[in-house]
Amino acid sequence: METPEALKARIDPDRVPAHIAIIMDGNGRWAERQGEHRVVGHANGVRSVREALVGCREVGVKYLTLYAFSTENWNRPKAEVDALMDLLVKTVIGELEELNANGVRLHTIGDTDSLPESCRRTLLDAIAATAKNDTITITLALSYSARWELVRMAQQLAAAAQEGTLQPDRIDDATIAAHLSTVGMPDPELLIRTSGEQRISNFLLWQIAYAELWFTPVLWPDFRKEHLFQAILDFQGRERRFGLISEQVAPA
Ligand code: FPP
Repeated sequence: METPEALKARIDPDRVPAHIAIIMDGNGRWAERQGEHRVVGHANGVRSVREALVGCREVGVKYLTLYAFSTENWNRPKAEVDALMDLLVKTVIGELEELNANGVRLHTIGDTDSLPESCRRTLLDAIAATAKNDTITITLALSYSARWELVRMAQQLAAAAQEGTLQPDRIDDATIAAHLSTVGMPDPELLIRTSGEQRISNFLLWQIAYAELWFTPVLWPDFRKEHLFQAILDFQGRERRFGLISEQVAPA
């Protein structure tokens, strides 16, 4: 494979996706392949989070959203859930200075009220401490699922309609987007999933309507900048038609 620098040099800076979302998958398999506990895979996945963030920042991606813990992940063995929460707290505390030094704003989406108090507190403090940074926003999807978010949106709109503050026939795409946890962010243009699985797994279902999908067999702990740059190059080689025909979107 080409070096990260060589791949980066081929990226067109004017057509970098503004928002990349990643389903980080394969930590457990990575650990099991080396005879280690699954938690070792999660710990090694932190380096890949850093690589993805630094790579995105280097090429001018403004939003990076990571599926760190799904609503369904609560059903994993308690020891693994506890270890993940612990890793999250330690990582956020350990990286805070670096985030601030590099203009990184931390954000979360999901039912964060359901997280353990220490985790919630650490995240809230880090979000406040990085709130003014504007080079790139890293969003951790925690206790997140798209159906959770869509149900919550429907409940909010129904309540507003019942109160008389929203007319049902005035509901449009923008109304819905304004009631999702990604409000204010552009939709992801590129969705990456590692580990060879080719599924969306309840992630950002509304927001990825027109995203390009990029799947790689690489397990998340092995994910490096070169994989990110490869995904961006592949994205730039695709024709995005948004329902139009080729002649309508191709430059004259
Ligand atoms: C999926 O691998 C990964 C997760 C559920 C957790 C991701 C967490 C990290 C990368 C570490 C901490 C993250 C941050 C943002 C500090 P899997 O366990 O589903 O792997 P498998 O499919 O091989 O079992």
